[in-house]
Amino acid sequence: MSRFYVTTPIYYVNDAPHVGHAYATVNADAMARWHRLVGDDVFFLTGTDEHGQKVARAAEENGVTPQEWTDRLSAHFAEAWAALDISNDDFIRTTEPRHYQAVQQFLQVIYDNGYITKDVYRGLYCVSCEQYYAEEELEGGTRCPVHRRPVELLEEENYFFRLSAFEDRLVAWYESEPGAVAPESKRNEALSFIKGGLRDISITRTSIDWGVPVPWDPGHVFYVWYDALVNYLTAIGYGRDDERFAAWWPAVHHLIGKEIIRFHCVWWPAMCMAAGIDPPAHVQVHGWLLVGGEKMSKSSLNKIAPDDLVATYGVDPLRYHLLRDTPLGADGDFSAEGITARYNADLANNLGNLTARVAAVVASKCGGVGPAPDPDSRLAAVAADVVVETMTAWNRFQPHLGLEATWRLIRETNAELEATEPWKAEPGPAVDAVLGSALEALRIVAVLASPAMPSTSREIHRRIGLDDDPTATRVPDGVAWGGYPGGLPVEKGSPLFPRLQAP
Ligand code: ME8
Ligand code: MG
Repeated sequence: MSRFYVTTPIYYVNDAPHVGHAYATVNADAMARWHRLVGDDVFFLTGTDEHGQKVARAAEENGVTPQEWTDRLSAHFAEAWAALDISNDDFIRTTEPRHYQAVQQFLQVIYDNGYITKDVYRGLYCVSCEQYYAEEELEGGTRCPVHRRPVELLEEENYFFRLSAFEDRLVAWYESEPGAVAPESKRNEALSFIKGGLRDISITRTSIDWGVPVPWDPGHVFYVWYDALVNYLTAIGYGRDDERFAAWWPAVHHLIGKEIIRFHCVWWPAMCMAAGIDPPAHVQVHGWLLVGGEKMSKSSLNKIAPDDLVATYGVDPLRYHLLRDTPLGADGDFSAEGITARYNADLANNLGNLTARVAAVVASKCGGVGPAPDPDSRLAAVAADVVVETMTAWNRFQPHLGLEATWRLIRETNAELEATEPWKAEPGPAVDAVLGSALEALRIVAVLASPAMPSTSREIHRRIGLDDDPTATRVPDGVAWGGYPGGLPVEKGSPLFPRLQAP
């Protein structure tokens, strides 16, 4: 059995979650569910990033202590993920004692290894990014390129991480592990940043105290990013449970947005090297969901709450749209038109229609009892191809292609019904063969689509009389043609996906 450790970024608790966070979290969740489906031992981690100036300011503006604020907002994220059927195995908060312990231990090792030194730092800082910028990176020399807000001049005595010492080792790592950062365009971006020359970076602050204290100099706290990245180690027992840590590290898959490439693809592997552990096996970079061409973000007015979309479209349709329409690595536009079009085409017309149609004809021609599939059905070969294509795509972190492949089986099954028109034929073996095969195709589709739409998959199995859990079926063995036994009651039920009016 192989292990699959997948992480999302841990989100800042300066404000509530929006669809951009949902996009990242749903993708990581679907990857985790896919790997459970193929029998991997999975550990799926998400959580919240609770220190730093941005969070401390949000608490202050709301008239509560940082701890009260982070308790409230972190719960908000956890609830949002529960409402989206996110199957995380752990939810880490950077304010937890286990995390303080891991951060202090990890950075102490780096300090002891001689990669942390003290100096004065002066720089232009974006509080929203919690990041220093060089003047030439700023818009008009004064504004953060992500948030378009003025940066602030900060000057403080800091500890520095000797990132410059890792230039050659990082380049060598990128060259020996070509798949470590994907997609390739993002790998090249990170690599050319490294080759452009690395400066040492400031990793502590004295100006704020909302953070993890530096163990060797407690007047300082670690800069929020240095604390945050370590979450990936904390959750798998770094410093507490060596055996567990060794089981999960470095075989990790970090899913991250493209604005935090430097942290994950330059600093983080260097920090790991400095601490004497392997760098992460894989960083999968994703793009942004845009609203009207702008990044959806907490600090602008274009954010959309996942809850509102769940109320309008349902959990599974939202998940499906997020996975199907924006390939990992590309930017995507989020709009009511986009989600409605996808819903009507793939869910109402294809999957929903097939489910309803098969149940209706089984009711009229087979007395409501589902027949067994035809071993020689044309669909058997289609299904076998679809299983392979679906697996290949998901294994490459391409949920959109995985779902596209799975939907081919739905379309082919609808086409087979159109061609044979069992609703016009006399009941008998020929009709049974067609309907049994359509039921088998539905059974397989429900399993293959379950990482995207777990509730819908369960509902389809229930309606076709199966009492198994499609999310617990093992792929590929459990989706070999012929698994539907026949002789089961098939229920018509109300439409799975009633058609939506165009907005
Ligand atoms: O950066 N489209 O937290 P954050 C797609 N705490 N994804 C989006 C998005 C959008 N419009 N907006 C946000 C932080 N995201 C740090 C991370 S990790 C050790 C620390 C997603 O709250 C995307 O995955 O700003 C992005 O990288 C992440 O949320 C940033 O969330
Ligand atoms: Mg951000």
